[in-house]
Amino acid sequence: MPTLTVQLPDLRRDQWTLFQAFTRWNVWVCHRRFGKTMLCLYLLLLEAFRNRQARPRYAYVAPLYRQAKAIAWDTLKYFVQYIPGTKVNEQELRVDFPQNGARIQLLGADSPDTLRGLYLDGAVLDEYAQMQPRAWREVIRPALADRTGWAIWIGTPNGRNHFYDVAMRAQGRQAAGDTSYSYRIFRASETGILSAAELASARETMQDFEYQQEFECSWTAPVPGSYYQEEFAAIERQGRVRPLVYDPYYPTCTAWDLGINDTNAIWYFQPKGNEVHFIDYDEGSSTPLAPPDYPQPGADLDNNWLAIVRSKPYIYDYSRLAEPRSREPYEQHFGPHDLGEREYGSGKTRYGIALYHPMERYRLRFTVIPRGPIQDGIAVARRLLSRAVFDEERCARGLDALRAYRREWNETSQAFADHPYHNWASNGSDAFRYAAIGLEGEPATPEHPLPGNSFLWAREQAKRARTGRPLRTFRL
Ligand SMILES: Nc1ncnc2c1ncn2[C@@H]1O[C@H](COP(=O)(O)OP(=O)(O)O)[C@@H](O)[C@H]1O
Ligand SMILES: [Mg+2]
Repeated sequence: MPTLTVQLPDLRRDQWTLFQAFTRWNVWVCHRRFGKTMLCLYLLLLEAFRNRQARPRYAYVAPLYRQAKAIAWDTLKYFVQYIPGTKVNEQELRVDFPQNGARIQLLGADSPDTLRGLYLDGAVLDEYAQMQPRAWREVIRPALADRTGWAIWIGTPNGRNHFYDVAMRAQGRQAAGDTSYSYRIFRASETGILSAAELASARETMQDFEYQQEFECSWTAPVPGSYYQEEFAAIERQGRVRPLVYDPYYPTCTAWDLGINDTNAIWYFQPKGNEVHFIDYDEGSSTPLAPPDYPQPGADLDNNWLAIVRSKPYIYDYSRLAEPRSREPYEQHFGPHDLGEREYGSGKTRYGIALYHPMERYRLRFTVIPRGPIQDGIAVARRLLSRAVFDEERCARGLDALRAYRREWNETSQAFADHPYHNWASNGSDAFRYAAIGLEGEPATPEHPLPGNSFLWAREQAKRARTGRPLRTFRL
């Protein structure tokens, strides 16, 4: 086979680091002007030539088609100009190499359907934070399946969105020793690609959070469309995220979001006068609600949500803290309406499983939050956020979720929809909403209970009876 020598530009030091780290799933977070697009085209070209399978196919995807054309097409053409026989198709933004039949095609995630039904040996998703994630899920990922193709997600952060999700997943897998993942982050202060003078001048014309995001790869800049942005501005101004000490003189409540085979989230909080102190947060997936009714000897009885909640040092029982008027323990654990749905298999509801568990230490009486319009729940959650205080460390993951909770972006109409975007942030945010709705039933101050003959009072009592909460018989 005749050899062909092509001179490509030298890679910069950090580009070379990434080039060597290249594996099947690559998430590379880099500052602006790092040389991301250039590096990716370089990799595509080499891969296209190295591939010995029939008719290799590669895709470079930018958020918009015209963007792909603007940022990558000229560079790609420049790279291939000295490769003899290359067919350049200006209409389709693609290049074909007659040597092995390989093709590199430029695409926009705004029209990913142009790729439907094709197969791919590799795909680059450039500026992934700006891309609609549907392009990956519905088109690129399936296209990589038959040839076990690779992918590179590369870009600069844009809040804790889908790019953050995939970055965190890759970071976790890589840390766990999975060599099919490569996660790297490059900040302008570390790479030295842009001169100090250039960075200083950028800093002058940009807002601080913009600079942190674009050049220091910070994920925490405000997310457009986020529901609780204003509330969190106030929370930060007033220093309501700080180290909190658990106060055993107040009862602790919990609020749960329980999905089947999905991530579960639990907030632990203490209503204290007008403030609500969020002292802890748990999140995890594939943890069961309860141990089996009659476990096998040696079964793990601690890895389930009821055991986790019970093993915390918190006192949930109101009657142990206040002068008991009733002997019945009074705990408040808020959970979603689907607790009442029967599980396939056992035929029991999760509400029932927790309430009647044969082992007493796993019993828990949920207060079921009725299903209602999500917008109303968000309004109630905003009110709770205005008087919430969070523990800085134990609630960090939950705070991420609340900050990132946002409206879905509609690519076609270029506007935010008025329903939430379902992602990792939904679980913690849903659980928080249940806390808010649950607490809303409680008057803020015990001095002003609802008048006994009012319609609201009657409705409240009916709700308590229906949801299995004891009628209110005492006050703290
Ligand atoms: N290895 C390299 N050698 C020389 N110049 C480079 C190299 N990589 C990138 N550049 C230049 O740096 C600039 C930014 O590159 P680009 O790939 O567009 O960065 P990004 O996509 O990270 O914003 C471009 O002008 C490009 O030509
Ligand atoms: Mg680029």
